[in-house]
Amino acid sequence: MMDALERRLTADLEGFRKDGVYKKLLYLDSAQAPRVRMEGHGEVIVLSSNNYLGLCNVPEVIQAGKDALDRYGAGTASVRFICGTFTVHRALEQACARLVGTPASLSFVSCWNANEAVPGTLLGEDDIVISDQLNHASIIDGIRLAKAITRCQTGVYRHADLGDLEEKLKAASDRRVRMVITDGVFSMEGAIAKLPDIAQLCRRHDAVLVVDDSHSTGVLGTTGRGTAEHFGMVGEVDIITSTLGKALGGAAGGFVASTESACDYLTQRARPQLFSNALPPTVAASALASIEYLEHHPERVAALRQNAAYFRDRLLADGFSPLPGETPIIPVILGETAKAIEMSRLLLAEGVFVTGFGFPVVPQGQARIRCQISAAHTRDDLDQALAAIRKVGQRLGIV
Ligand SMILES: Cc1ncc(COP(=O)(O)O)c(C=O)c1O
Repeated sequence: MMDALERRLTADLEGFRKDGVYKKLLYLDSAQAPRVRMEGHGEVIVLSSNNYLGLCNVPEVIQAGKDALDRYGAGTASVRFICGTFTVHRALEQACARLVGTPASLSFVSCWNANEAVPGTLLGEDDIVISDQLNHASIIDGIRLAKAITRCQTGVYRHADLGDLEEKLKAASDRRVRMVITDGVFSMEGAIAKLPDIAQLCRRHDAVLVVDDSHSTGVLGTTGRGTAEHFGMVGEVDIITSTLGKALGGAAGGFVASTESACDYLTQRARPQLFSNALPPTVAASALASIEYLEHHPERVAALRQNAAYFRDRLLADGFSPLPGETPIIPVILGETAKAIEMSRLLLAEGVFVTGFGFPVVPQGQARIRCQISAAHTRDDLDQALAAIRKVGQRLGIV
């Protein structure tokens, strides 16, 4: 029965290999950290994780998960509204709301699910959602789904182009609700959304503003409260979505933070809530412990910023041209996809784990390696990684 499908899949997989876009999984045999044990490669320095605050392996985060396992068992064995909500979910949701500065929040098993839930649940056929062209795949797919489920209108504005966004908003003046969605930090560039301008446009055109802060929570702002804190705008974003799978402990999970009624409505109607189990309590407890850790250790956010600035400056001094920016995502544009993949391969041989990205993930001719810095990297980690990047860069004729 599977023959035709198997033949097609095998041929496609062969094509991926031939085109150099086949992804080979690398297996870690230790906790995520600045240095990990990688099967077949020994100890490597990690510059490709979203473990921005280095919380994946802090003892408090690990212990909270263990305690929750003892207290609540493995999971809920049910979706939330039937009998699947533990007190730790409520505590986590209060902490998420407190962190990002909204009255309420609702957790999901991933930010992918959160992004899928927002437009598809909150919009209807008289409404429109307008999205930045470079938004994350989960937002794009969430919007596609919303269009199919609700028959809402959809629009895309050119990346960070406020003139284009305004045109789209003007053209949507007859819509009952206008929703604008942007990433807070665009993960391939490390660029921060122009939040003050976008928020102003939303106010002028009576639009709901949604910001996906997956790469900003724990990262931007003096205390890691995200893009809004970076711009002094805490409390001014209507809906924030974010992940628990990056800076906040790195396990999994996501949330929507907004008003009580928006979160209540999602509890009542969001299909990923109604038809899928809640976060495992171990994961919820580790994420909660991560938020509490962040609240007590703002110096981690400062350390992250200092490490990122140091790394960026040293790359420039070594003759590389990282994309300018202020975030711990530091892409170095290399041009052709093959070069990015080769650089990543050679760096791994030098004990440094950096992913290369090529077309179609990034535009043609803008293939890159993307370095991601953590607060937990020591100067020694960064200097060793920089030395390897310099060596490989020289070998490939980049510097
Ligand atoms: C901007 C953005 N949104 C959403 C997600 C999805 O997050 P999760 O892993 O929690 O589903 C990611 C993860 O890569 C992301 O970068």
